Amino acid sequence: MMRAGLLLLLAALTQLGALSVHAAVSAPCGTWKGTGECEDVSFDMSDRASLQRGAALFMNYCLGCHTTRYARYERFAEDVGVDIDLLKEHLIFDGSQPGSLIVNGMKVADAKKWFGAPPPDLSLITRARSPQWLYTYLLAFYRDETRPLGHNNRVFPNVGMPHVLEELQGVQRQVCAPVRTYAENGGVRRDPLTRELITEESCDVLQVDAGTGMMGETEYRQAAYDLANYLHYTAEPYRSQRISVGIYVVFYLLLLIVILWMLNREFQKDVADKH
Ligand code: HEC
Repeated sequence: MMRAGLLLLLAALTQLGALSVHAAVSAPCGTWKGTGECEDVSFDMSDRASLQRGAALFMNYCLGCHTTRYARYERFAEDVGVDIDLLKEHLIFDGSQPGSLIVNGMKVADAKKWFGAPPPDLSLITRARSPQWLYTYLLAFYRDETRPLGHNNRVFPNVGMPHVLEELQGVQRQVCAPVRTYAENGGVRRDPLTRELITEESCDVLQVDAGTGMMGETEYRQAAYDLANYLHYTAEPYRSQRISVGIYVVFYLLLLIVILWMLNREFQKDVADKH
């Protein structure tokens, strides 16, 4: 009895261990927010509308340079519930077959010449970094005339990639502006008499020139979220299946333990009778 109890406990603990792995640690985000902390968002792979919008953004804005050569169009369509005709019409722009890998025709040597570094394959980018990192990276481009392509990035300083979503976000610049200050306990500092915010001048505030983007801030953040969500899915399409299968396996093992334990008890009875 004691032994069975211990085994049960062990099974429960392994399950707990598997769940805690989820709380992925975010990769550091360069000089974002001064502290290098990435934006704190959680992603939802069951949100099919978000994955579909993310895929459309990826095919339109990223696939020209980046590939996801471990993913196929068709697999995405099946997982996210897009029918093949819609897939061909809205997501495949180069005449590829639905069963093809999501790749482009860019040559690595050319890319090196043009950008200084070849655009890496993005199949596993959210595993190599984190989806929060990718989301923050997409918010962190700003104009920098000292860079060859005119853009820099707070999360990835001196990145060789231009800000390809600038037409959506608008022209983001680094400007001097008053910013809030925080007390040691993390609260916003206010004047004790007037309750007005106590601010200080900072010269690395990111600000979008009004009216230069096709999207407002919330909308652009949503687009960055959808893209990161899509690439998070691409990095591990099995993720949601893996979690539900895992739970079944643990139940199965628990059941097996009970049956084996009872079986063992029966055999032990026989052994005892024989002596
Ligand atoms: C014009 C070509 C081009 C386009 C279009 C483009 N990128 Fe890039 N990207 C690059 C290059 C070049 C690099 C490598 C930069 C470096 O290493 O300095 C890069 C790097 C990256 C990285 C950093 C990878 C790492 O090393 O960790 C991410 C993430 C990324 N791109 C995401 C995207 C996304 C998402 C899109 C679509 C919204 C996109 N890129 C569109 C050229 C491009």
